[in-house]
This record gives sequence, structure tokens and C-alpha cells, in this order.
Amino acid sequence: MTRNIIIDTDPGQDDAVAILLALASPELNLLGICAVAGNVPLPLTSKNARIVCELAGRVDVPVFAGCAAPMARALVTAEHVHGKTGLDGISLPDPQMPLQDRHAVDFLIETLRREPPGTVTLCPLGPLTNIATAFTRAPDIVERVQQIVLMGGAYFEVGNITPAAEFNIYVDPEAAEIVFKSGVDLVVMPLDVTHGALATPARVAAFRQAGRVGPAVASWLEFFERFDTEKYGSEGGPLHDPTVIAWLLQPGLFTGRRINVEIETTGRWTSGMTVADWWGVSGREANALFMGKVEAQGFFDLLTNRIARL
Ligand code: RIB
Ligand code: CA
Repeated sequence: MTRNIIIDTDPGQDDAVAILLALASPELNLLGICAVAGNVPLPLTSKNARIVCELAGRVDVPVFAGCAAPMARALVTAEHVHGKTGLDGISLPDPQMPLQDRHAVDFLIETLRREPPGTVTLCPLGPLTNIATAFTRAPDIVERVQQIVLMGGAYFEVGNITPAAEFNIYVDPEAAEIVFKSGVDLVVMPLDVTHGALATPARVAAFRQAGRVGPAVASWLEFFERFDTEKYGSEGGPLHDPTVIAWLLQPGLFTGRRINVEIETTGRWTSGMTVADWWGVSGREANALFMGKVEAQGFFDLLTNRIARL
């Protein structure tokens, strides 16, 4: 039985690898890709999503452009990490496949209203603007969502764009608050997990040998790692977004706990912080399965083996 998913994304090299993993996995039925402004502005994220689909030979996957800015703030982007194009590291042809006419938010609402309740999983890999806008415009769809598995936030690792906040949550904290308070079954892949999933030179070399698409992945990662290796002195860049898809395929690679997570939206220094009650001291109700660790080599073996199939 395949699992219906929608990927909401701001490609981004790591988003691109996540999309490739989903396209290489017959367990998943990718209903569509929703682009959102994040790592780079929307015109680029919606272009990059199509570049990735064409690289995988999957021009059948509909790509929708979504929100160009956060719900209540100015957009913050991350060219310092992903480069000017958002997919720096290798130059790929401009996409020939068209963007869909419908707005991504309309696609989300119409799909969730059409499909039977509890049969569509949302996989946000960027700021939560599209998802939160859909929930606000059509509250009836919230209870129809099977699950949300997202990359965002942090507890022990605290922040990567500010000392207190992870990028996806920081860009649109109001959207994140709507999603985390929605009551939807939520699985969170925070920096605590992704900083344990480092694309070391040996792992990048394995991608370079992984079929037709692997070399492009290796080139993206060799570019993408600069920011983190310089900042953290780590042995490779953290592969954030593919952890979302890997959890759908092999949840046993991950460990975590159900806890309460609140989103800081007003803090002068802490806006966008995920206030994760890892030790259960608040008495607040758990609203998320918050992951803490990943078995890194198993994660990369899965990723490399699947990418090699494309
Ligand atoms: O903080 C990491 C997250 O922000 C990843 O999803 C990356 O692609 C960027 O969107
Ligand atoms: Ca992303």
C-alpha cells in the first residue's frame, strides 16, 4: 500500500535530495510539490523544484508555486548557505516542465478535500507558510490530514540562523505556531537529528558512484557543506530535509519522544525558537513526536541505495 504525500519545499540542495529520495521510493506516492519562499525567493524555489523533477526524469509530478513571503514578516533567505540560485554546486538546465496554474495553497486545500480523510501526509521542508495559510483559509482540511512530518526547530542544537532559532521556523514563526497548535499528528525532525546526519567525504564519494543522479547530489553537497563545516568545524554538511522522507521509509532509524513544543513569536532575541519541553517540566500537553537521534550510517545507506535507482 503506497503512502500519499505532498512535499512543501524551498529547494535548497538538501530539499532537492529529499525530493529525489521520495521519487526513488515506490512506497511513496508524491501527489505534488508545493514551492514556498525560504532558502531563496519563490521564483527560484519553484524553478528549482522543477529542475529536480527533470533531473529524476519525473516531469509527471505537478509543481505549484505557493506563498512568496511569510504570513506576517519580511522574508529572510539563506543564499549564504545555498548560493544565489539555491542549487549552487552544479549547473543544470533550466526546466522545460511548466509550473501548475493553481496556487499551492489551493492545491493543498483541494487535494485534502478530495482525498479520503487520513490518507494524505504533508512533508514540509521549509517555512510553514503554505501549510498555515491553507489551514487558515480552510479549517475543515486540518482534521483530514493524515500526519505532518516536518524538518524544523531544535532543542539541544538550539539555532542555526540565530542563536535561538532554526531557519524554517525562524522565517515564519506565526505559520509554525498555527501548525504546531493545529492538533495534527506531528513528527518533527530538528537540528538535533540533522546535525547527526553529516555528509562526510566518504558519504559524498558514495553518492558520486550512485547511478545517473548521484554525481549531481555529490556536487550539491560539496557546495552546501561549506557553511556548516566553517561554522561548526564539522566533517561535512548536515543533510536536513531527507530525514523527513527517510522517517517515512524507515522510522526505526530515528529515536525521539512525544513532547510539548511551543513556538516563540514575540521574543526580542528568541523569535522562532521551538520551546521543546524535552524533560516534561511544563505540564503542557504533548503535541509532537520530536526526534532526538538518527542512526547516521543507516540513513546514508538508505539514501545512497535509493538515489542509485534513479
Ligand atoms: O535549518 C535547515 C532548514 O532550512 C532546511 O530545510 C534547509 O533547506 C533550510 O530550508
Ligand atoms: Ca528546506
